[in-house]
Amino acid sequence: MGLQSLLICFFYVCSLLLISPSCEAQSVNRPISIEQNAFQVLEAKCNSCHRKKNRRKIFSLENMNQFAPKIHEQVFVKQRMPKGKATPLTEQEREMLLNWITTLKQH
Ligand code: HEC
Repeated sequence: MGLQSLLICFFYVCSLLLISPSCEAQSVNRPISIEQNAFQVLEAKCNSCHRKKNRRKIFSLENMNQFAPKIHEQVFVKQRMPKGKATPLTEQEREMLLNWITTLKQH
């Protein structure tokens, strides 16, 4: 009996050791991929038009975090963007943007 619980304990510790490094790696990578997901949305649904009609706001991985409050206002509060009906956001894309903005607010 004693040996059995020792074995269970051993496997438990092993699994913790196996799982925890990958968890840590994930939490380090997460904000970056959230940002990249959001950038893909901005690139596909916003930049396509801004490149022609609003050249001062072409979103990039470098400047998007600074624009986040404005983007939040335009997309989620005033619901003015994306302008027109040509490039509507899917539910998933809205979520990606919101997700990204929320992680920023936590910092
Ligand atoms: C079909 C064209 C078009 C699309 C698509 C579009 N925009 Fe715009 N956007 C504009 C134009 C034109 C302006 C400047 C005039 C205005 O504010 O209406 C603007 C202005 C803005 C502004 C600044 C508003 C302010 O505070 O003055 C933000 C922020 C913005 N857009 C974000 C976005 C985001 C985010 C998306 C994608 C989800 C997007 N836009 C998609 C045309 C577009």
